[in-house]
Amino acid sequence: MNEVIARVPHFRFSHMGLCTSDIGRMERFYVDMLGFTVTDRGNALGCDLVFLSRDPMDHHQIVLGTGRPADLPANTANPMFGPCINQISFALADLPALKAFDAHLRRRCPAVAPLYANHGTAWSIYLHDPERNFLEFFVDTPWYCAQPVFEPLDLGLDDDEILARTERLAREGSSFSPIADWRVAIRSAMDARLA
Ligand SMILES: [Fe+2]
Repeated sequence: MNEVIARVPHFRFSHMGLCTSDIGRMERFYVDMLGFTVTDRGNALGCDLVFLSRDPMDHHQIVLGTGRPADLPANTANPMFGPCINQISFALADLPALKAFDAHLRRRCPAVAPLYANHGTAWSIYLHDPERNFLEFFVDTPWYCAQPVFEPLDLGLDDDEILARTERLAREGSSFSPIADWRVAIRSAMDARLA
């Protein structure tokens, strides 16, 4: 088994494509609400495609395509999630950036009722896009604790208070460590699998 794994050259995750029922509505949301730029658009293999990015290093981070069937069934475990995509997640720089994003949401789409979560490892804001894909906007904390952890997050608190509460939460969880230590350990585990 290891022999097979060792032959897999390294790659990094880059982007994903979403099938849409109303590609125009989805484009407006990702451009106007989330700040993406349309880098290209066109048609291939029968699909209209819109390429979206927020980073000049990536031609596209999300591709919107046509052809999603109407009335997809709900997720059977929890209808909050999509029938096939569990989450699409975007990283922000730090806690002030996450708070600024929250303020932007409240200003621009007051009808959206985000869900706020403290995972110990990350602070997250969750919301649905117009076709009910579940989006996460998150910031990594300085800590690791075994996942999943899903506790309420109050972004109205001072940064110091959020940090203090989060460290307590993470330390209460199992396998607590500073995130830098966890990264060293998981890197060794990954390397060992490929050795
Ligand atoms: Fe996540």
